Amino acid sequence: MLFMCGIIGYVGPRDAREVIIAGLRRLEYRGYDSAGIAVVADGRLSVAKKAGKLANLEAELATIDFPVAHQGIGHTRWATHGGPTDENAHPHVSADGRVAVVHNGIIENFSDLRAELSNAGVEFKSETDTEVAAHLLAAELLGADTLMDAMRAVVKRLDGAFTLVAVDIAGSGEVVAARRNSPLVVGVGEGENFVASDVLAFIEHTRDVVELGQDQIVRITADEIEVIGFDGQPAETTRYHVDWDTSAAEKSGFDWFMRKEIFEQPRAVADTLLGRFNTKGELVLDEMRGISPEDLRRINKIVIVACGTAYYAGMVAKYAIEHWTRVACEVEVASEFRYRDPIIDPQTLVVTISQSGETADTLMAIRHARVQGAKVIAICNTNGATIPRESDAVIYTHAGPEIGVASTKGFLTQLVACYLLGLYLAQVRGMKYADEIRIITDELERTPAMVQQMLDGAERIYALAHSLAEAGDFIFLGRHVGYPVALEGALKLKEIAYQHAEGFAAGELKHGAIAIIEPDMPVFVVVPPEGRDQLRDKVLSNIKEVKARGAYTIVLAEERDKQISEDADVIIRLPHLSTLLQPLVATVPLQLFACELATVLGHDVDQPRNLAKSVTVE
Ligand code: M6R
Repeated sequence: MLFMCGIIGYVGPRDAREVIIAGLRRLEYRGYDSAGIAVVADGRLSVAKKAGKLANLEAELATIDFPVAHQGIGHTRWATHGGPTDENAHPHVSADGRVAVVHNGIIENFSDLRAELSNAGVEFKSETDTEVAAHLLAAELLGADTLMDAMRAVVKRLDGAFTLVAVDIAGSGEVVAARRNSPLVVGVGEGENFVASDVLAFIEHTRDVVELGQDQIVRITADEIEVIGFDGQPAETTRYHVDWDTSAAEKSGFDWFMRKEIFEQPRAVADTLLGRFNTKGELVLDEMRGISPEDLRRINKIVIVACGTAYYAGMVAKYAIEHWTRVACEVEVASEFRYRDPIIDPQTLVVTISQSGETADTLMAIRHARVQGAKVIAICNTNGATIPRESDAVIYTHAGPEIGVASTKGFLTQLVACYLLGLYLAQVRGMKYADEIRIITDELERTPAMVQQMLDGAERIYALAHSLAEAGDFIFLGRHVGYPVALEGALKLKEIAYQHAEGFAAGELKHGAIAIIEPDMPVFVVVPPEGRDQLRDKVLSNIKEVKARGAYTIVLAEERDKQISEDADVIIRLPHLSTLLQPLVATVPLQLFACELATVLGHDVDQPRNLAKSVTVE
């Protein structure tokens, strides 16, 4: 089985191989265990596929005679079952050599189908679920008029989540794709068309996109796009124009996408705030149309569901929403949500946060919530992705495409969207702390410049990363909203620098974990702003506790905070912000630190081992 892959199909006058390899390069962040390509030229199918990164496939293509073709498909894979081998790499070809298929998702009933096909004499060449689709398609083609008809017959036999893209040697200049629970978009060119997992794959050729709905099949030729439902009826689609260009998908002089994305944060935060307030200072969230102010006044509980970094944004949101609205707010890891039979009803507002909008755990959580009658608001960075499509309302973050596997600008813009949602709920339901909310609104407007200020100090953070390259273990501490910042700092180090890093609620440390503190162990501590003195004093005590056990303390504290010097080995200064907004600046040095440490250690920062950008299976 294989998941979370990048797929592309092309029909048009260019050399399909060049278009597909360039597209796969942009999709490689979705998976990089193996890559492959299949093209049809002069009624013949040519396939090349290789385990490892795309570079291996490119090296292979440089040594073989691969035809110039004008229709083809490509794939970059993130494997689970069925290791990353040449055989398991996509495309998979039917036994008769007639069709080639690439696939993203899981065909859940593949064992039964494989047994059925094996009994009928089909010999399998790989351990993947995808290969059954290739053989089924070839079998259906014997009795079908078109590849589209055959695809329609095949998808009826498949359970699970899948995007399938196929070429047929007998088809006249066409690529056919089907979509269920897995992303697929169509790029509309002039005299050429594309299908892909996401827009990045073809952004250098067109910014006009047709978004495919659930259970739809598309057939592209150079001049036509035909979409039908799995029921065979012509299907409605949404067309849109992408408002970013190829520069968003280039490293633009940076060594890593992640570093570029960290440095894009002032712009991303500003864009996410843009146009949200009217001249009276009131919030206007146009995208909330699907949920009326009456609906929002009726709710008596908010549940936030998300995964990974987005979950940490949700933890920050809980503090802000509960404080500003006095509505009880829970936050939960999406993968746990539906399995514990959560108490959800029509008076519950479910908020989901997802950069990609395709995370399967999150998607399943909102489906579960909607069945219980809850309204769902999505906070999402990807226009038209499945999660916003299946939500009642959406607040889009405007981070632009995030390509580095480690989320950075995604996180900061999610925080902004969470604050906007909290303020909006307070506005709609009656503001309890009107003065405070006015201050917060003013501060939000100033945060892009503050994020920039943190970036201006990058060299110092890089020097710190170099000095701690051998440390091996890292602890991150925070209280209140500093706690999710600590968790996020630790996650960044784990995922790209492969370091043992743990984030704790600072007060929890002495309930056990303080035992792991060793002399010279780096401990990052986020200190709340002055004004939250009770909270702050507790954190200052926690710094003393770890310092007394020999820790090397790296303290993130406000510029005006003069009290911390004696216990801090290193001080990272933060501009003043209200406590609730502090994560917007405190996270930035932790991102820079992780990026630099991973670089020093020689890791591939954008494509860390074992990970893929979006996790499209549970
Ligand atoms: O696309 P999503 O925001 O739903 O993704 C959720 C997590 O998979 C994601 O944040 C992941 O934890 C990142 N790689 C963290 O940097």
